[in-house]
Amino acid sequence: MELLVHDLLHFSRTSRTELRLRQFQLGDLVEEVKQSVQSELNGRVINWKVHSLPEVRGDPALLRVVFNNLLGNAVKYTRPRKTASIEIGTCPSEREHIIFIRDNGVGFDMQYVGKLFGVFQRLHHVEEFEGTGIGLATVQRIIVRQGGRVWAEGKENEGATFYFALPKENG
Ligand SMILES: Nc1ncnc2c1ncn2[C@@H]1O[C@H](COP(=O)(O)OP(=O)(O)OP(=O)(O)O)[C@@H](O)[C@H]1O
Ligand SMILES: [Mg+2]
Repeated sequence: MELLVHDLLHFSRTSRTELRLRQFQLGDLVEEVKQSVQSELNGRVINWKVHSLPEVRGDPALLRVVFNNLLGNAVKYTRPRKTASIEIGTCPSEREHIIFIRDNGVGFDMQYVGKLFGVFQRLHHVEEFEGTGIGLATVQRIIVRQGGRVWAEGKENEGATFYFALPKENG
């Protein structure tokens, strides 16, 4: 319950605090977040593949929350895998910086893809994977506030890919 209240407060704060946009290297931020999730792995081995990432204009503190949630999910939903693989890269686009986070975890049924980014919407049982279902809603809010968009692709038992795009003309 306490965790739930904490998550909700955090969620509402991400939509109220002023945006602090600046130009920065996304790769540096991803490296930091990767190190921090890596430290909570309890011996699990993750095969990371991080491609070169662009310099973007955005709010670094809020984008850190985005990567914390997306990498946190990738780590969590690959838990049953003997060798978990997580790949982070970009897709070519003229107008946007498109970033993807792909994992080889339990995946999800595309039939329910529309629910993923809703508050408290979960496709997996809490007995199997802990969580409150607020991470992706937070991710969506943060990205949309910065003029971007989010989407996902997955297949049951065959992994998932989460995408977000930030406009290049953000300043
Ligand atoms: N990488 C992933 N692979 C498969 N399913 C995912 C993945 N990321 C999210 N999901 C599905 O989307 C749901 C919503 O994700 P979200 O991050 O919002 O919640 P959570 O991880 O369950 O809890 P919280 O992030 O609040 O701790 C998850 O419960 C899970 O069913
Ligand atoms: Mg989550």
